[in-house]
Amino acid sequence: MVCITGLKKSFIAQSPSHGRIKAVMAVDGVSFEIPGGRIAALVGESGSGKTTIARCICGLETPDSGEILYNGAPLVFDTKDKRRMVQYIFQDTFSSLNPRMKTGEILGEPLIFHFNLRGGALEEEKLLLLGSVGLSGAVLDKYPHELSGGQRQRVVIARALSMRPGLLLADEPVSSLDVSVQAQVLSLLKELNEARGLSILFITHDLRVVKSLAHDVIVLKEGKIVEKGKVEDVFLRPGQDYTKLLLSCVPGAAPGPGA
Ligand SMILES: Nc1ncnc2c1ncn2[C@@H]1O[C@H](COP(=O)(O)OP(=O)(O)OP(=O)(O)O)[C@@H](O)[C@H]1O
Ligand SMILES: [Mg+2]
Repeated sequence: MVCITGLKKSFIAQSPSHGRIKAVMAVDGVSFEIPGGRIAALVGESGSGKTTIARCICGLETPDSGEILYNGAPLVFDTKDKRRMVQYIFQDTFSSLNPRMKTGEILGEPLIFHFNLRGGALEEEKLLLLGSVGLSGAVLDKYPHELSGGQRQRVVIARALSMRPGLLLADEPVSSLDVSVQAQVLSLLKELNEARGLSILFITHDLRVVKSLAHDVIVLKEGKIVEKGKVEDVFLRPGQDYTKLLLSCVPGAAPGPGA
């Protein structure tokens, strides 16, 4: 469904120590697929290029080169319909929600813009969306700061779902939540994947989450893929020392690089 080939993205950055300008190769020739209805996890150390890949997929960055195909056609966001197909969930729920809008308006805006819903149909759809993320209509009248972190992330997910996307890019969506709320949001994503066939690119540092949530895993290091495959294969038989090192930090997942 989503096919990425030879993706490259560099940034011009100024060195903090000597002030010289240099190019940083954030993503360096990355190719992978996210088959329809599957959850692919993108893992790797900080700065390995995960967010940059997601931002290229949803059009927030323009790649230097490479191809991103969605159902066989280049992914461009030139129509309303195409813009709704890929939705991005960020780690920081505060910055993704307008602090001056109540939940009802936050959910209503895209429903009016994309589907022209009004009146009773609009209110009904808001309640359905809230129900699908385990929230009640009680949050409709609340501002983002009046919600808990877990409720806010559910509202963000509900807003993403309101656009009926085919692909959800979830960039560390649970890192700022406490462990029990993390588990709830993760099981919600799994449910949505199973019930709606929603494809998800899930970005995380946490390999335990990968094991419980994802079908496929892509391991990234310094902008390049070091290993990719089905989660059970990569976790049972990691082919690369880097993957073994990442896995050695997960209790009971796999032997470390020296084993
Ligand atoms: N707008 C930008 N300008 C300059 N450099 C950037 C920019 N965005 C990212 N980079 C650099 O590109 C590299 C990859 O960054 P990216 O944010 O994709 O990493 P990441 O894997 O998401 O890291 P983390 O796990 O910390 O979120 C880093 O070296 C980063 O400093
Ligand atoms: Mg990131």
